[in-house]
Amino acid sequence: MDVLAFRGAYHGMTAGSLALMGDTAPREEVEVLGHVHHLPYPYEYRPPLGIGGEAEHRALAREVETALEDPLSGVEDPAAMVVEPVQGEGGSIPAPDEWLREMRRITREHDVPLVVDEIQAGVGRTGSMYAFEYAGIVPDAVCLSKAVGGGVPLSVLLYHERYDEWASGAHLGTFRGHQLGVAAGRGTLEYIVEHDLPAHAARVGERLTSCLDESADGRPELADVRGRGLMLGVEIVDAGQPANDDGSHPPDADLAMAIQRECFDRGLIVERGGREGATIRFLPPLIVSESEVDTIAERFEAGVAAALNG
Ligand SMILES: Cc1ncc(COP(=O)(O)O)c(C=O)c1O
Repeated sequence: MDVLAFRGAYHGMTAGSLALMGDTAPREEVEVLGHVHHLPYPYEYRPPLGIGGEAEHRALAREVETALEDPLSGVEDPAAMVVEPVQGEGGSIPAPDEWLREMRRITREHDVPLVVDEIQAGVGRTGSMYAFEYAGIVPDAVCLSKAVGGGVPLSVLLYHERYDEWASGAHLGTFRGHQLGVAAGRGTLEYIVEHDLPAHAARVGERLTSCLDESADGRPELADVRGRGLMLGVEIVDAGQPANDDGSHPPDADLAMAIQRECFDRGLIVERGGREGATIRFLPPLIVSESEVDTIAERFEAGVAAALNG
């Protein structure tokens, strides 16, 4: 069974999802399932084709179309394309809307189900209920987890009824439809809708982004501030090293780690992800207030200053 996935992707640790991931290290000791083709994912700071901008997005879409149309591409009638609308562990990298629309067009034209992994980006985090909504597309299936249970383990697979081929009860599991999880999920969704947390995430996310932009201003080591809503990242580079052809500098994992440690010492937990773990990631709770965002930004600024001087 062939599946199309993307470089930089993170989908989880089961044998099937490991096969879809860009990071090969976690699957070294495990036999993974399926035959996956990893296609290049748009990445503005480090454009994989070296073109950059909208021309790069068009070329990336063409690459996917070629993989599906060239009889010698090595791709055999894929069962699905699986994509994150914003790559999370990959380094808070948003897919450009036009590119995601192209993925929808191409998969529809080639009758390949489009599965959007919203496990990290979904349920309000990016400033809309689902991150794919920015592109105005309708996927064939959507994976949800993390926020949807409000902290109680719950995962949900939404799919179009034309894929509902299993007989009722054919796919069993002890904890399927677990009452506590389902009740927590319902309560969480009601709260999120009632308090319009996606709009809140968009608003406070913009505030945090402009604070991060200020921290990055005049500091070439903080090379790229990116993301959507409250799913943000700052890529840390070694600005003293020569730039690549595309203008990007090599990732600086040591400096990113030093910033993370300095932030932690100031009571701020930030994640790291992306190439070599050099992207500092911000994923605050969706109910974070504006004044808490200011505190996050102040502590980050102080952590960066200490790491750069230390
Ligand atoms: C986009 C995405 N998909 C899937 C997963 C895997 O979820 P879980 O750890 O619940 O298996 C994650 C976890 O970080 C994720 O970010």
